[in-house]
Amino acid sequence: MTTEQNAEQLKQKVREYWNANPCGTQFAHTDWGTKEFFDEVERFRYSSQPFMKELVGFDRFAGKRLLEIGCGLGTDLFQFARGGASVTGTDLTPRSIELAKARFDMAGVPAQMLVADAENLPFENDSFDVVYSFGVLHHTPNTEKAIREAYRVLRPGGTIILMLYHKHSLHVYLGAPLYWLAGKIRKGSLSALENYIRIYDGDENPLGKAYSRSEARRMMRNFSNVRVTLCDPIRRKYSRPLNTVNQLLFARWLGFWMVLKGKKPA
Ligand SMILES: C[S@@+](CC[C@H](N)C(=O)[O-])C[C@H]1O[C@@H](n2cnc3c(N)ncnc32)[C@H](O)[C@@H]1O
Repeated sequence: MTTEQNAEQLKQKVREYWNANPCGTQFAHTDWGTKEFFDEVERFRYSSQPFMKELVGFDRFAGKRLLEIGCGLGTDLFQFARGGASVTGTDLTPRSIELAKARFDMAGVPAQMLVADAENLPFENDSFDVVYSFGVLHHTPNTEKAIREAYRVLRPGGTIILMLYHKHSLHVYLGAPLYWLAGKIRKGSLSALENYIRIYDGDENPLGKAYSRSEARRMMRNFSNVRVTLCDPIRRKYSRPLNTVNQLLFARWLGFWMVLKGKKPA
């Protein structure tokens, strides 16, 4: 089998996994697709990621054409729309798009929504003022190709905001050896690190990758003014003191989430 065929096979597994487990549903106890469900997903997201409003700036793009790649349930996309952006949401999985559409329809908020692969975006060059993708491109086999696509569809002078997992983080340094000792890192075609990262999004998640700052900057080399911010969500499985110490002392140096912001040169 060729490398491309392997990658397509892996992407099919990625699609099946996220279609069966749309991102965010794991934290909700209400029936999928109801108003209560979307409210619960939103409450959970921004209470465990309280930095999002400031870091991402949902209300800074009024009047701009904004594309979200891998929008999942559309929770962030909805905030951008509320902030006045004209939004397009894409995801690899029909289930996420169906749910995200239901969310917007329920609120009477307009959005263009479609199933699309980050590695082959169905848009003309220079179509958007902003491209946003949070926690997505490390799940696709060819992350570099997806970043090239984001660059292609962004207009010159446009803004990109990406979140990728960060390799040199407490999550990796402390967790990976523990998981390895406990025998939880299964053998397979992925490296031990990728196997550990994969599990962060569920035992059956087929693919997860993490990058150093310099690796991420290399993939973003065509963009200018690239700035990197590290952060961590508040994790419910850890005690409040542990979360507080992490947020105050470690997250900004050794966080597992790496947010990259840049511009396409004008
Ligand atoms: C961890 S979830 C993040 C969803 C959303 N951005 C959020 O923060 O809630 C990963 C998402 O990436 C999507 N995804 C994975 N590979 C993709 C690809 N090649 N193209 C588009 N979406 C993809 C999955 O379907 C899933 O919805």
